[in-house]
Amino acid sequence: MADSPLGRPVNRVDGRRKVTGTAAYAADQHPDRMVHGHLLVSDVGHGTIRSMDTAAARSAPGVLAVFTPFEPLALAAGAGQNWVPLQDTLVRYHGQVIGIVVADTFEQARDAAALVRTDYDETPPAASFAAGIPTATVPTGGWEPPVVDILADGVTSIDEALAASPVVVSGNYSQPSKHHNAMEPHATVADWRDGGLVVHGGTQAPAGHARSIAAALRLDPAQVRVLSPYVGGGFGNKATTWADAVVTAAAARAVGRPVKTVLTRPQTFTVTGHRSAVAQAIALGADHDGTLIALKHDAWSSLSGSGSVFESAPGTTSRMLYRTANLHVGQKVVTLDVPPSTFMRAPGEESGSFALECAMDELATALRMDPVALRLKNYATVLPGRNVPWSSKHLDECYRVGASRFGWARRRATPSAVAEGDWWVGMGMATAVYPANRFPTSVRVRLLADGTAAVSTASADLGTGMWTVLAQLGADRLGIAMDRVRPELGDSALPANFGAFGSASTAGVAPALRDAAAAAVRSLTEIAVSDERSVLHGADPAGVEYRAGALHAGGRSVTFGALLTATGHPAVEATASGGPGGPPAEYAFHSFGAHFCEVRVNRWTAELRLSRITTVVDAGTIVNPKTARNQIEGGMLFGVGQALFEGAQVEPNGRIANANLADYLIPVNADVPPMDVHFLDHPDTVFNPAGVRGVGEIGTVGVAAAIANAVFNATGRRVRDLPITVEKLL
Ligand code: MOS
Repeated sequence: MADSPLGRPVNRVDGRRKVTGTAAYAADQHPDRMVHGHLLVSDVGHGTIRSMDTAAARSAPGVLAVFTPFEPLALAAGAGQNWVPLQDTLVRYHGQVIGIVVADTFEQARDAAALVRTDYDETPPAASFAAGIPTATVPTGGWEPPVVDILADGVTSIDEALAASPVVVSGNYSQPSKHHNAMEPHATVADWRDGGLVVHGGTQAPAGHARSIAAALRLDPAQVRVLSPYVGGGFGNKATTWADAVVTAAAARAVGRPVKTVLTRPQTFTVTGHRSAVAQAIALGADHDGTLIALKHDAWSSLSGSGSVFESAPGTTSRMLYRTANLHVGQKVVTLDVPPSTFMRAPGEESGSFALECAMDELATALRMDPVALRLKNYATVLPGRNVPWSSKHLDECYRVGASRFGWARRRATPSAVAEGDWWVGMGMATAVYPANRFPTSVRVRLLADGTAAVSTASADLGTGMWTVLAQLGADRLGIAMDRVRPELGDSALPANFGAFGSASTAGVAPALRDAAAAAVRSLTEIAVSDERSVLHGADPAGVEYRAGALHAGGRSVTFGALLTATGHPAVEATASGGPGGPPAEYAFHSFGAHFCEVRVNRWTAELRLSRITTVVDAGTIVNPKTARNQIEGGMLFGVGQALFEGAQVEPNGRIANANLADYLIPVNADVPPMDVHFLDHPDTVFNPAGVRGVGEIGTVGVAAAIANAVFNATGRRVRDLPITVEKLL
């Protein structure tokens, strides 16, 4: 029997294809007769298009067509913003899609696009987040109720509870809007054949992408097939279909040729989504022993007038993280004339944890209490307000194991107490939390006569490791070696899958695969006992056991490959969806973690260097510690970007001044310290039979706070406005 690869640090099955360049991404596709699209985008922040002179572009070399609101493509609603591209002359924000040029080559399309002259009636955009805060509104969408108040008996308001608290800290926190900047820019190759549409496009959700494109082009969803085997990063921005994909597909229909459109880096900033800018006000009231009496957390998030997604900061963090007698969380949105805001890795938790976990550090300082001890003092064992326990929660162990691995005991509570040469050395910590999600997922398991198996679901691997995890889970359930399991994903025609987001893929795939494998074995057993050519013919099905790729009964056994070959079946297959409904309602479901960070700040220049980070994660069973560590490290890297580098610079006219990778700073190798990632690996079998939760996003949550807290410990400077740049420490 093949030893199960479950829990082993297996190398990526797609790794060789990735590093040798044989993994074909969307933009690597070149169907016959393919031509190239180049998008036109608005260069004013708001107004209407008076005219577009496309004559020069149309007569430029190689140009097949130019589509604009005046020469439109037929499109309906269905893509990632609440308006339909090219159907009106309204400019909603700077960088909005207003047309597409189609030409024989990429260069011809790009050069012709530069010849289009657009005149606007310009009106000033509401592009300033700060200016919009006074008129912020309570959102109607979102996953979390915008306002939650849980007050002790006899308490009439959170402010009353704060006023009655012996120790109070409060502060305002802020951070700019941010962009995902996946290495692979959004790309679409739209190829019409046989009355249907094949779309090659890097997406986190092949089936959802196909549905959105079908809706926008008024097609039957069965007519659209999305292929997305490799995705060069997504981080939430490839969970949604944006205007580029539907305009490209419509242009391909109009010109009767396959069309490829690859966004330029600046276009990815405005044609696709970004994370809200967030301002937060937080106040904590506590007794002298550290017991929380009141937690008040309000946030204001930017929301694009073109979209519906915003950072839900307190609702995803303060709402559930600590036990407190009195709790208020409030969320407002500032609606702006900016590109569509969308999901970005840990949407809500990323910003909410920055404010909450810095405020907890401020409270620890005010109380002269150790930050870990303060968190343990207020450890929640039931979800506030609902009073249900977590299915599995080992956050206390994360704190203790993390503190021990990191050497937290060496931390000095007084800022600037430790120096090495010209460098102040500081330590900080913070909590990580992310919900355990599970979406409807179907998996097909197919046993083939050649002794191999295929496991298939319309998921995506955006660098997450799903190719590998799918093969591991299949090998585990079928008891065969991984190299006999062929994973299939990245195709909307495969069994239904919501897509790879919400850190939910493995938690959905594992139980569905388990049921599909069992059902396939039942079909196999049926053949084994009923077919005269089978060595198990006539056996009692109840006495037939499947083990290590073979059926066994009464001292006889046959591998599934041999059985299928002998009985003339090319394959046997089953599809399952991991049982009805979601996890039980009498529990709360989250993953947890703790970050411990050491920084060095130069006492003369305020140069800030991260020296090391230890992160301990409680996310249930870890299927592959290598790909899971990659996920957590990637999340931590996002946190480093949040803390020290990232932020869009939005000009008054709505133009993003740093919409490129030279000016929009993200961490590079030299900015990244040694990362010590440790998993607790407690199976969460209440959540699903495989015991897995998810690791895609939790690594991000709390990193910025741990860094900011370490900076305070090093320097005595409390920076509440991100990113923490040198000038804020001088
Ligand atoms: Mo993630 S922001 O749920 O793709």
